[in-house]
Amino acid sequence: TGAKVHSAQQILDADKYENDPELEKIRRERNYSWMDVITICKDKLPNYEEKIKMFFEEHLHLDEEIRYILEGSGYFDVRDKEDRWIRISMEKGDMITLPAGIYHRFTLDEKNYVKAMRLFVGEPVWTPYNRPADHFNARAQYVKFLEGTA
Ligand code: LAC
Ligand code: NI
Repeated sequence: TGAKVHSAQQILDADKYENDPELEKIRRERNYSWMDVITICKDKLPNYEEKIKMFFEEHLHLDEEIRYILEGSGYFDVRDKEDRWIRISMEKGDMITLPAGIYHRFTLDEKNYVKAMRLFVGEPVWTPYNRPADHFNARAQYVKFLEGTA
């Protein structure tokens, strides 16, 4: 699907995310100049219910979505070539990059808690486009990429 998961316990150390040469290396190599840390739980995230609902609506972005799990866990669902959901379980130390134009959604698990670093190339644009959003160039590019994969 083009979604890349670094199940990175061996590479990245989520306990030292504030000073981790391996993380710095990824950021440098992939131009992830921008970052922040978001905590998704009822007590810490303003408009929690509304946001949780938004995250779980099937959507795409015009840019790459990059998340690095620092604490807690959750699920990213992505569509495969046959348009079936693939559930990706994300835990502490895992990093995922979702290509621009891929349909996806996110949900917490029964622990209802995740702390994640959001990375971005340049100034962040988080706009989700709910499905259907097939008219975007980013979508066309992604579909082309899918068709090229065996
Ligand atoms: C987002 C994730 C949750 O768009 O898909 O922030
Ligand atoms: Ni998204």
